[in-house]
Amino acid sequence: MSADSKAAASTEPAGVSPQVEPDEHPRSSPMSIHDMTVAYHRRPVLWDIDYNTPPGNLIAIVGPNGAGKSTLIKAVLNLVPTVSGQVSFFGEPYKKQRRRVGYVPQRSSVDWDFPVNALEVVTMGLYRSIGWFRPVTKKHRQAAMAALDRVGMADYAKRQISQLSGGQQQRVFLARALAQEADLYLMDEPFAGVDAATERAIVAVLRELKDAGRTAMVVHHDLQTVQEYFDEVVLLNMRLIASGPVGDVFTEENLRATYGGKLALLDRVGHRMTLSGGRQ
Ligand SMILES: Nc1ncnc2c1ncn2[C@@H]1O[C@H](COP(=O)(O)OP(=O)(O)O)[C@@H](O)[C@H]1O
Ligand SMILES: [Mg+2]
Repeated sequence: MSADSKAAASTEPAGVSPQVEPDEHPRSSPMSIHDMTVAYHRRPVLWDIDYNTPPGNLIAIVGPNGAGKSTLIKAVLNLVPTVSGQVSFFGEPYKKQRRRVGYVPQRSSVDWDFPVNALEVVTMGLYRSIGWFRPVTKKHRQAAMAALDRVGMADYAKRQISQLSGGQQQRVFLARALAQEADLYLMDEPFAGVDAATERAIVAVLRELKDAGRTAMVVHHDLQTVQEYFDEVVLLNMRLIASGPVGDVFTEENLRATYGGKLALLDRVGHRMTLSGGRQ
């Protein structure tokens, strides 16, 4: 028997997904990924991802460029198709729980020339709960203003988004997700290219979310601040390399496994980990 026919014999019938045990999708977990594989044009970019998000934590998703971090977020939100696997939110499929899930896309993926002001961007984030063809009420506008205020952007409510700085645009995006009052937030590189004031504002919001029992999973490119900002870390490079509490998982060994040969960068981080009393 050739290797090919052996492989074919062991392959499950097409279109039949494996049975999922109930406890593989616990309700207590804001997001649970089971055996997820994602491909673009038949080239897999994420392999066999298994992960249960612990509730009430700030979680960094870390890995090199092209590791599949954005793809992971898009795939769980059904924005790109998966080859296999199941994902649940609070124990149910995304379409049943989507109101409880807030998404902050990467700033660079958005057309900022679109002629709307900051308040309108935040209000549009509420359409899912308002309903597309219902009027926006004063209550909704107040909720949107409150969200802008939380990120320090209330004074810019009527400013066209094309007229905002990158950091301000990012804060508007965050306000849009906050207004939704979600229980789980998925954020793609919210700290990329922002000024120091915006970085502080975002960190403050993340801590507020955590204090209120919410969960945030944040794609984060800055290895130097992972320990300071996050409780948990997911190390990703096409495969899930390691995940768990930052103190256990954010080790030099795991980072080497995630980043491969980019040693100069890792040496700097290793140095900092030594200084902060972290593992070496
Ligand atoms: N729409 C797409 N079509 C084809 N390939 C894509 C697409 N989006 C991303 N990729 C590829 O998938 C891999 C993972 O990309 P991505 O998820 O954006 O990584 P990251 O966010 O970690 O930088 C990369 O090799 C990237 O080139
Ligand atoms: Mg990305």
